[in-house]
Amino acid sequence: MNEAIRETLLEAVRNGGATMRQRVGHVTVSYKTSWSDLVTEVDKAVEEAVFDLVKRRFPDHGVLGEEGGGAFDREYTWILDPLDGTTNFAHTLPNYVCSLAVCRGREVVAGAIYDPNRDELFFAARGEGATLNGQPIQVDAAPSLREALIGTNLLWDTRENRFASLPELQSLGQQVRGVRSLGAAALELAYVACGRLTGFAQFRLGPWDFAAGILLVAEAGGTATQFSGDPVDVTHASSVVASNGRVHGELLRYLQQA
Ligand code: IPD
Ligand code: CA
Ligand code: CA
Repeated sequence: MNEAIRETLLEAVRNGGATMRQRVGHVTVSYKTSWSDLVTEVDKAVEEAVFDLVKRRFPDHGVLGEEGGGAFDREYTWILDPLDGTTNFAHTLPNYVCSLAVCRGREVVAGAIYDPNRDELFFAARGEGATLNGQPIQVDAAPSLREALIGTNLLWDTRENRFASLPELQSLGQQVRGVRSLGAAALELAYVACGRLTGFAQFRLGPWDFAAGILLVAEAGGTATQFSGDPVDVTHASSVVASNGRVHGELLRYLQQA
């Protein structure tokens, strides 16, 4: 892994997390697409600060952020969720992270996720494994869904006025040891990578939600696909099923039946 890229990834997400810690509990909440889709000035401030740093150090690289958008039109693209878990952040619930990934073409080559509340820094580089605060991490060993703890989040569909993920969740709840909704997709993917969750499944995600997380999972020995079972292409995918690998087929089958 290019050392300058690694250092910038780690510095950027740590700085982002520090800003969250300083400002949690003192933010103004605004609405994006609906009353349940929130943004705060911290989301925007972190995105601006991270991309200022990236552009200063890598002027030829492209950026794609949740708040400001962007495109995959350069050899390298930095994909940022400045604050994943904004609803938690707005409610001072300490489950939120800064997630940053670097792609070469369509392939995620490195990713970092920082949880400022637990001071946990997750990092992965393609082919080099995944770490938590510098120590190697691995997915859990659950052999079947009956022993699996699975993360997913209910999504309220404001157009259809129903829980978009309720049938899948009900069906899944009957098959697994437990279902957890932590409210931050990137954090949940990091938890699959370090074995705190066996798997995570959700649709209607953006590339910023999962780019770093899917590399962490893969480098920690797990598997990440779309709901269809196809590989996750960061330029198009909107659903992610991630797991320790051992339960992946079983998990996909249940989700596809639901
Ligand atoms: C959201 C969180 C949430 C997930 C949503 C995401 P945000 O990201 O990851 O857990 O259910 O789909 O949009 O808005 O907090 O960055
Ligand atoms: Ca997010
Ligand atoms: Ca966000």
